Amino acid sequence: MSQQVKIQLDGQDVELPLIEGSEGEKALDVSKLRAQSGYITYDGGFGNTGACQSGITFVQGEKGILRHRGYSIEGLCEHASFLEVAYLLIYGELPTQSELTAFMDEITQHTLIHEDLRRIYDALPKDAHPMAILSSVVCCLSTFYQDSLDYSNPDHVRLSIIRLLAKLPTIAAFTYKKSIGQPLIYPRNDLSYTANFLNMMFALPTESYHVDPDISEALDQLLILHGDHEQNCSTSTVRMVGSSHANLFASVSAGICALWGPLHGGANQAVLEMLQAIHEDGDDVEKYVNLAKDKTSDFRLMGFGHRVYKNFDPRAQIIKSSVDKVLNKLGVKDPLLGIARKLEEIALNDEYFSQRKLYPNVDFYSGIIYRALGFPSDMFTVLFSIGRLPGWIAQWKEMMEDQSRIARPRQIYTGSTERDYVPIDQRS
Ligand code: ACO
Repeated sequence: MSQQVKIQLDGQDVELPLIEGSEGEKALDVSKLRAQSGYITYDGGFGNTGACQSGITFVQGEKGILRHRGYSIEGLCEHASFLEVAYLLIYGELPTQSELTAFMDEITQHTLIHEDLRRIYDALPKDAHPMAILSSVVCCLSTFYQDSLDYSNPDHVRLSIIRLLAKLPTIAAFTYKKSIGQPLIYPRNDLSYTANFLNMMFALPTESYHVDPDISEALDQLLILHGDHEQNCSTSTVRMVGSSHANLFASVSAGICALWGPLHGGANQAVLEMLQAIHEDGDDVEKYVNLAKDKTSDFRLMGFGHRVYKNFDPRAQIIKSSVDKVLNKLGVKDPLLGIARKLEEIALNDEYFSQRKLYPNVDFYSGIIYRALGFPSDMFTVLFSIGRLPGWIAQWKEMMEDQSRIARPRQIYTGSTERDYVPIDQRS
Protein backbone atom coordinates (compact mmCIF):
# COMPACT_ATOMS: atom_id res chain seq x y z
CA MET A 1 0.00 0.00 0.00
CA SER A 2 1.57 3.32 -1.04
CA GLN A 3 1.87 6.16 1.45
CA GLN A 4 -0.96 8.71 1.31
CA VAL A 5 -1.07 12.39 2.15
CA LYS A 6 -4.32 13.88 3.34
CA ILE A 7 -5.24 17.45 2.38
CA GLN A 8 -8.45 19.37 3.02
CA LEU A 9 -10.23 21.21 0.22
CA ASP A 10 -13.56 22.97 0.88
CA GLY A 11 -13.84 21.03 4.13
CA GLN A 12 -13.52 17.72 2.34
CA ASP A 13 -10.63 15.26 2.93
CA VAL A 14 -8.68 14.31 -0.18
CA GLU A 15 -6.07 11.56 -0.09
CA LEU A 16 -3.15 11.84 -2.48
CA PRO A 17 -0.57 9.07 -2.96
CA LEU A 18 3.08 9.92 -2.29
CA ILE A 19 5.67 8.86 -4.84
CA GLU A 20 9.37 8.64 -4.03
CA GLY A 21 12.08 8.35 -6.66
CA SER A 22 15.18 6.15 -6.34
CA GLU A 23 17.25 9.18 -5.26
CA GLY A 24 14.71 10.29 -2.66
CA GLU A 25 12.80 12.93 -4.69
CA LYS A 26 9.31 13.11 -3.20
CA ALA A 27 6.15 13.95 -5.11
CA LEU A 28 2.43 14.17 -4.53
CA ASP A 29 0.52 12.22 -7.16
CA VAL A 30 -2.26 14.63 -8.15
CA SER A 31 -3.46 12.66 -11.18
CA LYS A 32 -6.84 11.91 -9.50
CA LEU A 33 -7.15 15.27 -7.73
CA ARG A 34 -9.68 16.83 -10.13
CA ALA A 35 -11.84 13.73 -10.17
CA GLN A 36 -11.83 13.63 -6.35
CA SER A 37 -12.19 17.33 -5.55
CA GLY A 38 -12.85 19.44 -8.65
CA TYR A 39 -9.51 21.19 -8.13
CA ILE A 40 -6.54 21.21 -10.48
CA THR A 41 -2.99 22.29 -9.60
CA TYR A 42 -1.40 25.45 -10.99
CA ASP A 43 2.35 25.67 -11.61
CA GLY A 44 3.32 28.31 -14.20
CA GLY A 45 6.68 27.37 -15.74
CA PHE A 46 6.33 23.82 -14.29
CA GLY A 47 8.94 24.47 -11.57
CA ASN A 48 7.17 22.04 -9.23
CA THR A 49 5.64 19.64 -11.69
CA GLY A 50 6.93 16.15 -12.37
CA ALA A 51 5.60 15.41 -15.86
CA CYS A 52 6.86 11.81 -15.95
CA GLN A 53 8.76 9.11 -14.11
CA SER A 54 12.09 8.51 -15.80
CA GLY A 55 15.12 6.29 -15.30
CA ILE A 56 17.48 8.13 -17.64
CA THR A 57 19.04 11.16 -16.00
CA PHE A 58 19.35 12.31 -12.41
CA VAL A 59 20.01 15.99 -11.66
CA GLN A 60 20.41 17.30 -8.13
CA GLY A 61 20.58 21.05 -8.57
CA GLU A 62 21.55 22.04 -5.03
CA LYS A 63 24.59 19.74 -5.01
CA GLY A 64 25.49 20.12 -8.70
CA ILE A 65 25.04 16.41 -9.46
CA LEU A 66 24.37 15.09 -12.98
CA ARG A 67 24.23 11.35 -13.64
CA HIS A 68 23.09 9.31 -16.64
CA ARG A 69 21.69 5.88 -15.79
CA GLY A 70 23.61 6.19 -12.48
CA TYR A 71 26.98 7.15 -14.00
CA SER A 72 28.41 10.58 -13.12
CA ILE A 73 28.93 13.07 -15.92
CA GLU A 74 32.52 13.55 -14.73
CA GLY A 75 33.26 9.80 -15.11
CA LEU A 76 31.55 9.56 -18.49
CA CYS A 77 33.46 12.58 -19.81
CA GLU A 78 36.74 11.10 -18.64
CA HIS A 79 36.30 7.55 -19.90
CA ALA A 80 33.57 7.22 -22.53
CA SER A 81 33.05 8.31 -26.12
CA PHE A 82 29.97 10.22 -27.27
CA LEU A 83 28.46 7.21 -29.04
CA GLU A 84 29.05 5.06 -25.95
CA VAL A 85 27.12 7.60 -23.88
CA ALA A 86 24.44 7.73 -26.59
CA TYR A 87 24.04 3.96 -26.33
CA LEU A 88 23.88 4.18 -22.53
CA LEU A 89 21.19 6.86 -22.62
CA ILE A 90 19.07 5.13 -25.23
CA TYR A 91 19.40 1.48 -24.17
CA GLY A 92 19.97 1.86 -20.42
CA GLU A 93 23.33 0.07 -20.02
CA LEU A 94 26.90 0.70 -21.11
CA PRO A 95 27.52 -1.36 -24.26
CA THR A 96 29.91 -4.30 -24.39
CA GLN A 97 32.72 -3.91 -26.94
CA SER A 98 30.82 -5.96 -29.54
CA GLU A 99 27.57 -4.04 -28.93
CA LEU A 100 29.39 -0.73 -29.29
CA THR A 101 31.19 -1.84 -32.45
CA ALA A 102 27.92 -2.99 -34.04
CA PHE A 103 26.19 0.27 -33.01
CA MET A 104 28.99 2.43 -34.44
CA ASP A 105 29.21 0.37 -37.64
CA GLU A 106 25.51 0.69 -38.26
CA ILE A 107 25.58 4.44 -37.67
CA THR A 108 28.52 4.74 -40.07
CA GLN A 109 26.51 2.94 -42.77
CA HIS A 110 23.68 5.53 -42.58
CA THR A 111 25.56 8.84 -42.68
CA LEU A 112 24.51 9.81 -46.21
CA ILE A 113 21.23 11.59 -46.77
CA HIS A 114 18.97 10.95 -49.75
CA GLU A 115 20.10 13.06 -52.73
CA ASP A 116 16.60 14.56 -53.12
CA LEU A 117 16.70 15.63 -49.49
CA ARG A 118 20.02 17.35 -50.21
CA ARG A 119 18.27 19.43 -52.87
CA ILE A 120 15.99 20.98 -50.23
CA TYR A 121 18.94 23.11 -49.18
CA ASP A 122 18.82 24.86 -52.57
CA ALA A 123 15.30 26.11 -51.87
CA LEU A 124 16.19 27.77 -48.55
CA PRO A 125 17.70 31.25 -48.18
CA LYS A 126 21.48 31.31 -47.83
CA ASP A 127 21.27 33.43 -44.68
CA ALA A 128 18.64 31.27 -42.93
CA HIS A 129 19.43 30.44 -39.32
CA PRO A 130 20.93 26.92 -39.23
CA MET A 131 18.50 25.85 -36.49
CA ALA A 132 15.56 26.56 -38.81
CA ILE A 133 17.19 24.47 -41.54
CA LEU A 134 18.12 21.70 -39.11
CA SER A 135 14.59 21.42 -37.79
CA SER A 136 13.07 21.49 -41.29
CA VAL A 137 15.40 18.87 -42.76
CA VAL A 138 15.00 16.59 -39.72
CA CYS A 139 11.22 16.76 -40.11
CA CYS A 140 11.68 16.01 -43.83
CA LEU A 141 13.43 12.74 -42.88
CA SER A 142 9.92 11.47 -42.16
CA THR A 143 9.06 11.98 -45.84
CA PHE A 144 12.12 10.12 -47.17
CA TYR A 145 12.23 7.29 -44.64
CA GLN A 146 8.59 6.28 -44.42
CA ASP A 147 9.61 2.68 -43.85
CA SER A 148 10.56 3.38 -40.21
CA LEU A 149 7.80 5.62 -38.84
CA ASP A 150 5.72 3.20 -36.77
CA TYR A 151 6.35 4.10 -33.12
CA SER A 152 4.98 0.73 -31.98
CA ASN A 153 7.27 -1.39 -34.17
CA PRO A 154 10.65 -1.96 -32.42
CA ASP A 155 12.44 -2.52 -35.75
CA HIS A 156 11.16 0.80 -37.08
CA VAL A 157 12.16 2.59 -33.91
CA ARG A 158 15.66 1.05 -33.95
CA LEU A 159 16.18 2.05 -37.59
CA SER A 160 14.92 5.60 -37.02
CA ILE A 161 17.29 5.96 -34.07
CA ILE A 162 20.28 4.84 -36.17
CA ARG A 163 19.26 7.08 -39.07
CA LEU A 164 18.86 10.15 -36.89
CA LEU A 165 22.15 9.68 -35.05
CA ALA A 166 23.94 9.02 -38.35
CA LYS A 167 22.42 11.81 -40.40
CA LEU A 168 22.21 14.76 -37.99
CA PRO A 169 25.94 15.66 -38.28
CA THR A 170 25.66 15.42 -42.10
CA ILE A 171 22.55 17.63 -42.14
CA ALA A 172 24.27 20.12 -39.81
CA ALA A 173 27.51 20.30 -41.82
CA PHE A 174 25.61 20.68 -45.13
CA THR A 175 23.73 23.60 -43.56
CA TYR A 176 27.02 25.35 -42.84
CA LYS A 177 28.64 24.63 -46.20
CA LYS A 178 25.56 25.90 -48.00
CA SER A 179 25.57 29.13 -45.96
CA ILE A 180 29.14 29.95 -46.99
CA GLY A 181 28.73 28.83 -50.59
CA GLN A 182 31.23 25.97 -50.41
CA PRO A 183 30.71 22.54 -51.99
CA LEU A 184 29.18 19.98 -49.67
CA ILE A 185 31.63 17.50 -48.22
CA TYR A 186 30.18 14.00 -48.05
CA PRO A 187 30.63 11.81 -44.97
CA ARG A 188 33.73 9.65 -44.67
CA ASN A 189 33.12 6.26 -43.14
CA ASP A 190 36.78 5.76 -42.17
CA LEU A 191 36.56 8.56 -39.59
CA SER A 192 35.09 8.56 -36.10
CA TYR A 193 31.70 10.19 -35.49
CA THR A 194 33.18 13.50 -34.36
CA ALA A 195 36.15 13.51 -36.76
CA ASN A 196 33.77 12.88 -39.66
CA PHE A 197 31.65 15.84 -38.57
CA LEU A 198 34.71 18.13 -38.34
CA ASN A 199 35.80 16.93 -41.77
CA MET A 200 32.38 17.62 -43.32
CA MET A 201 32.45 21.09 -41.72
CA PHE A 202 35.96 22.22 -42.58
CA ALA A 203 37.41 20.12 -45.42
CA LEU A 204 37.50 21.36 -49.02
CA PRO A 205 37.61 19.24 -52.17
CA THR A 206 40.69 21.19 -53.27
CA GLU A 207 43.04 20.38 -50.40
CA SER A 208 43.57 17.75 -47.75
CA TYR A 209 42.29 18.40 -44.25
CA HIS A 210 43.70 16.75 -41.17
CA VAL A 211 41.43 16.28 -38.16
CA ASP A 212 43.54 16.76 -35.04
CA PRO A 213 42.62 13.89 -32.67
CA ASP A 214 42.90 16.19 -29.60
CA ILE A 215 40.39 18.56 -31.16
CA SER A 216 38.07 15.77 -32.16
CA GLU A 217 38.28 14.46 -28.58
CA ALA A 218 37.50 17.92 -27.16
CA LEU A 219 34.40 18.15 -29.35
CA ASP A 220 33.40 14.61 -28.40
CA GLN A 221 33.54 15.65 -24.73
CA LEU A 222 31.41 18.72 -25.41
CA LEU A 223 28.81 16.53 -27.09
CA ILE A 224 28.79 14.17 -24.08
CA LEU A 225 28.23 17.13 -21.76
CA HIS A 226 25.07 18.02 -23.68
CA GLY A 227 23.79 14.42 -23.93
CA ASP A 228 20.71 14.70 -21.75
CA HIS A 229 19.36 16.91 -19.02
CA GLU A 230 16.05 15.38 -17.97
CA GLN A 231 12.84 17.38 -18.49
CA ASN A 232 14.20 20.67 -19.88
CA CYS A 233 12.24 22.75 -22.42
CA SER A 234 13.32 20.91 -25.59
CA THR A 235 13.09 17.42 -24.06
CA SER A 236 9.65 18.17 -22.68
CA THR A 237 8.72 19.34 -26.18
CA VAL A 238 9.95 16.07 -27.71
CA ARG A 239 7.90 14.14 -25.14
CA MET A 240 4.85 16.38 -25.62
CA VAL A 241 4.88 16.00 -29.41
CA GLY A 242 5.70 12.28 -29.19
CA SER A 243 2.83 11.74 -26.75
CA SER A 244 0.44 12.25 -29.67
CA HIS A 245 2.27 9.30 -31.30
CA ALA A 246 4.05 11.60 -33.73
CA ASN A 247 7.07 9.82 -35.22
CA LEU A 248 10.60 10.23 -33.88
CA PHE A 249 11.78 12.55 -36.70
CA ALA A 250 8.82 14.93 -36.19
CA SER A 251 9.22 14.88 -32.41
CA VAL A 252 12.95 15.64 -32.56
CA SER A 253 12.34 18.37 -35.13
CA ALA A 254 10.05 20.07 -32.61
CA GLY A 255 12.73 19.66 -29.92
CA ILE A 256 15.24 21.42 -32.16
CA CYS A 257 12.86 24.41 -32.44
CA ALA A 258 12.49 24.55 -28.66
CA LEU A 259 16.25 24.39 -28.17
CA TRP A 260 16.77 27.31 -30.55
CA GLY A 261 15.39 29.91 -28.09
CA PRO A 262 17.95 32.14 -26.32
CA LEU A 263 16.69 31.16 -22.87
CA HIS A 264 17.56 27.55 -23.67
CA GLY A 265 20.16 26.19 -26.14
CA GLY A 266 20.31 29.47 -28.05
CA ALA A 267 22.08 30.92 -25.01
CA ASN A 268 25.49 29.68 -26.24
CA GLN A 269 25.21 31.90 -29.30
CA ALA A 270 23.82 34.73 -27.17
CA VAL A 271 26.78 34.47 -24.74
CA LEU A 272 29.31 34.90 -27.53
CA GLU A 273 27.38 37.84 -28.97
CA MET A 274 27.21 39.41 -25.51
CA LEU A 275 30.97 38.97 -24.94
CA GLN A 276 31.64 40.43 -28.39
CA ALA A 277 29.39 43.42 -27.64
CA ILE A 278 31.21 44.03 -24.33
CA HIS A 279 34.55 43.83 -26.15
CA GLU A 280 33.46 46.29 -28.82
CA ASP A 281 32.18 48.60 -26.07
CA GLY A 282 35.63 48.91 -24.51
CA ASP A 283 35.70 45.80 -22.28
CA ASP A 284 33.67 47.54 -19.56
CA VAL A 285 32.48 44.37 -17.82
CA GLU A 286 31.10 46.13 -14.76
CA LYS A 287 28.76 48.20 -16.91
CA TYR A 288 27.12 45.00 -18.17
CA VAL A 289 26.94 43.40 -14.75
CA ASN A 290 25.14 46.53 -13.52
CA LEU A 291 22.84 46.43 -16.52
CA ALA A 292 21.95 42.79 -15.74
CA LYS A 293 21.03 43.86 -12.17
CA ASP A 294 18.97 46.83 -13.35
CA LYS A 295 15.30 45.82 -13.18
CA THR A 296 14.33 48.59 -15.62
CA SER A 297 16.40 46.87 -18.32
CA ASP A 298 15.59 43.46 -19.77
CA PHE A 299 19.28 42.63 -20.26
CA ARG A 300 20.40 39.36 -18.64
CA LEU A 301 23.87 37.93 -18.32
CA MET A 302 23.59 35.18 -20.89
CA GLY A 303 25.11 31.91 -19.75
CA PHE A 304 24.19 32.69 -16.14
CA GLY A 305 21.48 31.05 -14.09
CA HIS A 306 19.66 27.77 -14.36
CA ARG A 307 16.22 26.54 -13.38
CA VAL A 308 17.63 23.50 -11.57
CA TYR A 309 21.29 24.19 -10.67
CA LYS A 310 21.38 26.50 -7.68
CA ASN A 311 24.99 26.01 -6.66
CA PHE A 312 27.05 25.16 -9.71
CA ASP A 313 26.50 23.53 -13.08
CA PRO A 314 28.86 20.52 -13.21
CA ARG A 315 28.95 20.73 -17.00
CA ALA A 316 30.17 24.34 -16.84
CA GLN A 317 33.00 23.29 -14.51
CA ILE A 318 34.17 20.57 -16.90
CA ILE A 319 34.05 22.93 -19.88
CA LYS A 320 35.84 25.66 -17.97
CA SER A 321 38.70 23.30 -17.19
CA SER A 322 39.14 22.29 -20.84
CA VAL A 323 39.00 25.82 -22.34
CA ASP A 324 42.70 26.53 -21.72
CA LYS A 325 43.75 23.12 -23.01
CA VAL A 326 41.89 23.54 -26.30
CA LEU A 327 42.91 27.16 -26.85
CA ASN A 328 46.58 26.36 -26.12
CA LYS A 329 46.51 23.37 -28.43
CA LEU A 330 45.12 25.53 -31.22
CA GLY A 331 47.38 28.47 -30.38
CA VAL A 332 44.33 30.73 -30.06
CA LYS A 333 44.41 33.83 -27.87
CA ASP A 334 40.84 35.03 -27.53
CA PRO A 335 40.15 38.39 -25.83
CA LEU A 336 36.60 37.16 -25.17
CA LEU A 337 37.97 34.54 -22.78
CA GLY A 338 39.46 37.28 -20.59
CA ILE A 339 36.12 39.10 -20.60
CA ALA A 340 34.25 35.90 -19.70
CA ARG A 341 36.57 35.24 -16.76
CA LYS A 342 36.26 38.81 -15.48
CA LEU A 343 32.49 38.68 -15.86
CA GLU A 344 32.31 35.46 -13.92
CA GLU A 345 34.55 36.80 -11.14
CA ILE A 346 32.58 40.03 -10.72
CA ALA A 347 29.20 38.30 -10.86
CA LEU A 348 30.15 35.55 -8.42
CA ASN A 349 31.21 38.18 -5.87
CA ASP A 350 28.08 40.24 -6.31
CA GLU A 351 25.14 39.94 -3.90
CA TYR A 352 22.56 40.16 -6.69
CA PHE A 353 23.84 36.95 -8.27
CA SER A 354 24.65 35.07 -5.05
CA GLN A 355 21.24 35.82 -3.50
CA ARG A 356 19.49 34.53 -6.61
CA LYS A 357 21.91 31.60 -6.90
CA LEU A 358 22.97 32.55 -10.40
CA TYR A 359 26.11 30.74 -11.60
CA PRO A 360 27.66 30.14 -15.01
CA ASN A 361 25.79 27.41 -16.86
CA VAL A 362 26.87 24.97 -19.58
CA ASP A 363 26.61 27.67 -22.24
CA PHE A 364 28.92 30.19 -20.62
CA TYR A 365 32.27 28.80 -21.81
CA SER A 366 31.23 26.33 -24.53
CA GLY A 367 30.97 29.08 -27.18
CA ILE A 368 34.58 30.11 -26.62
CA ILE A 369 35.74 26.58 -27.41
CA TYR A 370 33.42 26.29 -30.43
CA ARG A 371 34.75 29.61 -31.73
CA ALA A 372 38.34 28.46 -31.27
CA LEU A 373 37.50 25.30 -33.21
CA GLY A 374 36.33 27.50 -36.10
CA PHE A 375 32.53 27.28 -35.72
CA PRO A 376 30.56 30.49 -36.43
CA SER A 377 28.33 31.52 -33.55
CA ASP A 378 25.06 30.66 -35.31
CA MET A 379 26.23 27.02 -35.48
CA PHE A 380 26.68 26.76 -31.69
CA THR A 381 23.12 25.71 -30.99
CA VAL A 382 23.37 23.20 -33.83
CA LEU A 383 26.28 21.60 -31.96
CA PHE A 384 24.11 21.52 -28.86
CA SER A 385 21.44 19.70 -30.91
CA ILE A 386 23.89 17.03 -32.05
CA GLY A 387 24.91 16.52 -28.43
CA ARG A 388 21.34 16.48 -27.10
CA LEU A 389 20.02 14.09 -29.75
CA PRO A 390 20.66 10.87 -27.74
CA GLY A 391 18.78 12.38 -24.79
CA TRP A 392 15.78 13.33 -26.92
CA ILE A 393 15.74 9.86 -28.44
CA ALA A 394 16.06 8.13 -25.05
CA GLN A 395 13.25 10.23 -23.55
CA TRP A 396 10.96 9.70 -26.55
CA LYS A 397 11.61 5.94 -26.46
CA GLU A 398 11.04 5.69 -22.71
CA MET A 399 7.77 7.56 -23.02
CA MET A 400 6.53 5.38 -25.89
CA GLU A 401 7.41 2.24 -23.94
CA ASP A 402 5.59 3.57 -20.86
CA GLN A 403 2.34 3.80 -22.85
CA SER A 404 1.80 7.28 -21.38
CA ARG A 405 -1.35 9.21 -22.11
CA ILE A 406 -1.28 12.13 -24.52
CA ALA A 407 0.21 15.19 -22.77
CA ARG A 408 -2.61 17.62 -22.34
CA PRO A 409 -2.29 20.15 -19.50
CA ARG A 410 -5.29 22.06 -18.18
CA GLN A 411 -5.55 25.80 -17.59
CA ILE A 412 -7.13 28.34 -15.30
CA TYR A 413 -9.39 30.26 -17.64
CA THR A 414 -9.23 34.03 -16.95
CA GLY A 415 -11.11 35.42 -19.97
CA SER A 416 -14.63 36.84 -20.29
CA THR A 417 -17.54 34.87 -18.98
CA GLU A 418 -20.39 34.08 -21.39
CA ARG A 419 -21.75 37.05 -23.34
CA ASP A 420 -24.10 37.55 -26.29
CA TYR A 421 -22.86 38.02 -29.84
CA VAL A 422 -22.92 41.72 -30.86
CA PRO A 423 -23.76 42.45 -34.54
CA ILE A 424 -20.94 44.40 -36.23
CA ASP A 425 -22.98 47.62 -36.68
CA GLN A 426 -23.70 47.77 -32.93
CA ARG A 427 -20.05 47.49 -31.76
CA SER A 428 -18.36 50.56 -30.35
N1 ACO B 1 21.04 37.69 -15.50
C1 ACO B 1 20.44 38.53 -14.60
N2 ACO B 1 19.43 38.19 -13.78
C2 ACO B 1 18.96 36.94 -13.88
C3 ACO B 1 19.52 36.00 -14.78
C4 ACO B 1 20.59 36.42 -15.60
N3 ACO B 1 21.15 35.57 -16.48
N4 ACO B 1 18.87 34.82 -14.67
C5 ACO B 1 17.92 35.00 -13.75
N5 ACO B 1 17.99 36.29 -13.24
C6 ACO B 1 17.17 36.86 -12.16
C7 ACO B 1 15.75 37.14 -12.62
O1 ACO B 1 15.65 38.48 -13.13
C8 ACO B 1 14.98 36.95 -11.35
O2 ACO B 1 15.21 38.08 -10.52
P1 ACO B 1 14.05 38.61 -9.50
O3 ACO B 1 13.85 37.48 -8.52
O4 ACO B 1 14.60 39.85 -8.91
O5 ACO B 1 12.83 38.83 -10.37
C9 ACO B 1 15.69 35.76 -10.68
O6 ACO B 1 17.05 35.83 -11.17
C10 ACO B 1 15.10 34.40 -11.03
O7 ACO B 1 15.03 34.29 -12.45
P2 ACO B 1 13.97 33.42 -13.26
O8 ACO B 1 13.87 33.95 -14.64
O9 ACO B 1 12.70 33.33 -12.46
O10 ACO B 1 14.67 32.00 -13.25
P3 ACO B 1 14.26 30.78 -14.15
O11 ACO B 1 14.61 29.57 -13.39
O12 ACO B 1 12.86 30.92 -14.63
O13 ACO B 1 15.19 30.94 -15.45
C11 ACO B 1 17.03 30.84 -16.89
C12 ACO B 1 16.35 30.23 -15.67
C13 ACO B 1 16.04 30.91 -18.07
C14 ACO B 1 18.19 29.94 -17.32
C15 ACO B 1 17.52 32.25 -16.54
O14 ACO B 1 18.47 32.18 -15.48
C16 ACO B 1 18.12 32.99 -17.74
O15 ACO B 1 17.40 33.64 -18.48
N6 ACO B 1 19.47 32.89 -17.96
C17 ACO B 1 20.09 33.46 -19.12
C18 ACO B 1 19.87 32.57 -20.33
C19 ACO B 1 20.69 31.30 -20.29
O16 ACO B 1 21.87 31.31 -19.99
N7 ACO B 1 20.04 30.19 -20.64
C20 ACO B 1 20.69 28.87 -20.70
C21 ACO B 1 20.17 27.97 -19.63
S1 ACO B 1 21.03 26.45 -19.63
C22 ACO B 1 20.37 25.60 -20.92
O17 ACO B 1 19.27 25.79 -21.33
C23 ACO B 1 21.20 24.63 -21.51
